Order: sequence, then structure tokens, then C-alpha cells
Amino acid sequence: MEKMPYQPHLDSTPLAAAPLARSTSGGWRTGLPVLAGSLVTLRELQMDDAASLFVMLSAEEVSRFISPPPSTVGGFERFIAWTHQQREAGEYVCFAVTPRGSDVAVGLFQVRSVEPGFGTAEWGFAIGVDFWGSGMFVEGAKLVLDFSFDVVGVHRLEARAAVRNGRGNGALRKIGAVQEGVLRRSFLRKGEHLDQTLWSILDDDWRAARAGWGRGPNIIH
Ligand SMILES: CC(C)(COP(=O)(O)OP(=O)(O)OC[C@H]1O[C@@H](n2cnc3c(N)ncnc32)[C@H](O)[C@@H]1OP(=O)(O)O)[C@@H](O)C(=O)NCCC(=O)NCCS
Repeated sequence: MEKMPYQPHLDSTPLAAAPLARSTSGGWRTGLPVLAGSLVTLRELQMDDAASLFVMLSAEEVSRFISPPPSTVGGFERFIAWTHQQREAGEYVCFAVTPRGSDVAVGLFQVRSVEPGFGTAEWGFAIGVDFWGSGMFVEGAKLVLDFSFDVVGVHRLEARAAVRNGRGNGALRKIGAVQEGVLRRSFLRKGEHLDQTLWSILDDDWRAARAGWGRGPNIIH
């Protein structure tokens, strides 16, 4: 992924009184499940995540190769409301990353449909710098990939990372994404058009890799 959010106008996303959906009885469109690992728990974003996400994602190291995150806590609140609207519309999901045993949101995983019905989707992620190299990315990514392929029904999951983003590309390679090519001058950041690497993971490839690890989905409610 390149963009932290996939929408280019995060700060201007209109405020909405989106309810916090906790139930999954109507499927993920009515509320995201809790995805639990040994290091991280992924859950629906909540309005009071805005302050911690603002701190975590505004750091220069985190934001330098992604679309600019909201510049205020209020901007994050509008973004969180927008994520709930988009999930209800069936077009997008966004999980907060919380360290296991804590409920503080320290990052995001997001997946958006790029064709009707979510057959092809694009994902992206950002985690606070204090948690880099901790294993939280890999574990969270596996949970999100399981959810995307097994629950949402994604067939092909794409990601874009600025070629200069060594860590983002390294993370994608490590999780098993396949590099497909370079999108020349495709990402405008701070007045400069950057090249991006296009990565993909296919559902069949993911299931084959997972079978090798002997693990399945781990979804709790
Ligand atoms: C992307 C992100 C979520 C990954 O989480 P992380 O905890 O840093 O990831 P990991 O440490 O598990 O994996 C990164 C891998 O890239 C490698 N890496 C780091 N710098 C690298 C570089 N310059 N070139 C190549 N690989 C590099 C790391 O060594 C690591 O691989 P290893 O575990 O085999 O050593 C996190 O770095 C982040 O939030 N970055 C800012 C936002 C961002 O760029 N998002 C992704 C956009 S595509």
C-alpha cells in the first residue's frame, strides 16, 4: 500500500454520526470482528482512538512515504467516522492495531475494494515507530489477510509502496507479496512524484502458504 488512507482527501471527509458497531451478527458490514493474535489485537476503530493515532501516525518516520495523515485529532475523528460509513457501504474496512493486553490504537490496517464486490482490493498499513520490528506487523498482517480472503472474499490483494520505502517494501516481501512492477511517478508526496512498487497476493497463494504454517483464521468476537 502506499497511502495510509486510500482516499486522497482524508481531512475533508465529512463528519458523520457513525455508530460504533460491535456486533458481527449481520456480517462485517455491520461491525468488524475482533482478530486476536499473541502480540496484537485488531478491532474496529473507535472515536477515542483519534488522539493516539494522531501521535503515532504523524511522526515523520511513519508518514514520509504515505498519504499525509490528518493533521489534527479532529481530522482523525472525521476519518474514523468515515471508516465506519465506508464499512457499512461494503467498500472498505479499517482495523485498529492494539498491542495485546492494551486497548491503545498504535496503528492501522485498511483494505478497500477496487472493483465492485471486493474481488480485487488494495491494502495498506501503518504502525507507530516504537512498534517496528516487534513482530506486530507480521502477526497483524496475517490476521488481516485471513480476514480479507476468507471472510470478505477478496481474490487479489494489491499494495503499492514507494520504491524508496525500504521498510514498507521489506514488510510486503516478508509477508509473501509478489512484486509485479513499478508504477512510474505514480505517487505525489511533498511536491515530488515518486515511483511505486506494485505488489500482490492472490487468495490461492495465501491459502497454500498458510497451510504450510499450519494455522487458520483466528477470529474472536
Ligand atoms: C510498514 C510497517 C507497518 C512495517 O512494520 P515493521 O514492524 O517496520 O515491519 P517488520 O520490521 O516486521 O518488517 C520490515 C522488514 O523490512 C526490512 N527492511 C527495513 N529497512 C529496509 C530497507 N531499507 N530495505 C529493505 N528492507 C528493509 C526489515 O529488516 C524487515 O525485515 P526482516 O524482519 O526480515 O529483517 C512499518 O514500518 C510502518 O508503519 N511504516 C510507515 C508506514 C508505511 O510505510 N507503510 C507501508 C507503506 S507500503
